[in-house]
Amino acid sequence: MGTQDGIQSCRTVVCEAPVNIAVIKYWGKKNEDLVIPLNDSISVTLDTEHLRARTIVSLDPTSDGVQFSLNGKEETPSKRFMKVIALCKSEALRQGSIRENDTTLGLRIVSDNNFPTAAGLASSAAGISCLASALKAVYDIQGDISGIVRQGSGSACRSVYGGFVRWHTGHAGDGSDSVAQQIRPASHWPELRVLILVVNDKKKDVSSTSGMKESVDTSDLLRYRADFIANARCEAMTAAITDRNFEKFAELTMRDSNQFHAICLDTYPPIMYLDDTSKAVINLIHAYNRKSGRILAAYSFDAGPNPFLFTLSENLQSLVELLRLQFPSANSSFLRGLTDFLLKSPENVEYGDILNPVSDSVQYIIVTKAGEGPKTSVNEVPMSPFC
Ligand code: PMV
Repeated sequence: MGTQDGIQSCRTVVCEAPVNIAVIKYWGKKNEDLVIPLNDSISVTLDTEHLRARTIVSLDPTSDGVQFSLNGKEETPSKRFMKVIALCKSEALRQGSIRENDTTLGLRIVSDNNFPTAAGLASSAAGISCLASALKAVYDIQGDISGIVRQGSGSACRSVYGGFVRWHTGHAGDGSDSVAQQIRPASHWPELRVLILVVNDKKKDVSSTSGMKESVDTSDLLRYRADFIANARCEAMTAAITDRNFEKFAELTMRDSNQFHAICLDTYPPIMYLDDTSKAVINLIHAYNRKSGRILAAYSFDAGPNPFLFTLSENLQSLVELLRLQFPSANSSFLRGLTDFLLKSPENVEYGDILNPVSDSVQYIIVTKAGEGPKTSVNEVPMSPFC
């Protein structure tokens, strides 16, 4: 396959792709069809060890359709899913790695996520970037595919790269320069830790697609952000990441999350993604930072109530102790992921004055770190009616 003669063998590609968490948010498109954002955004790609989408794609010469299952259930592929497949095929045709009649070969696609789907945990980002990365290997596409992924699901284009990633809105009317670029790889800041507090793993009420459209139509604050704030913040955030300046990184992250949710409230009628637990986490983190005399932790929220926290490994233990005292839980697997720090003896810090414990409002916490981009492995067998 991938020769002048088009596809010569059957490939099965297994791809694992990461979730990314925006620290400077994307919210609003200037072109709906092409998914061109109003402003640049920046994210941290998370380690696939703890959160990942996995997609297995195989060519099916016995059909010309797409068979798709997600988390063990047969599903009708969504429009955005089919769009990514169509864009990958036309890019492969343009590059000459497949021929016209190869585009009619069927596809069997099996996907699963190891975390709650569509709960504001960026599952669509991981899923769409996983699909496109697998198809890149199936069709032998060369070069950057973030422009394709963007058109399937905007924020997903940042999951094409590991580490710290900026999605540029670009200047071209056709979106050709609206692509993601790595700022620094994950290895640049190995001490950074990310905590995902799962307060609710139900599907969100207002999808990000419809929510951001309503904000574009009705929020003056969104316009102001796009014109005067977001791109300048991306510059400041790039510098904070480059310098590994945690306090700057954390302050920008919290301010940007707050501004995004202020825009949701400025949308008419308002959209409310945060719940009481989210608000308790915001207050707790500010109290913790105040008590510490410097910024040791930051929060960020996407289109859902689940808090994402950032801290450095040296402060992880004290932050987790604080969270356990604030959100007591009977769940025996309350802490998941990178939990080796639990082997250390407790720090016995006195948090009494900033606590207001609420039991069982956090279901569990995933502790993770920045990680690499999608990984694919390819298994090739000769083309036959049975492959
Ligand atoms: O790409 P979408 O449609 O899932 O939108 C994502 C929007 C936020 O997660 C809220 C922010 C972001 O930049 O990821």
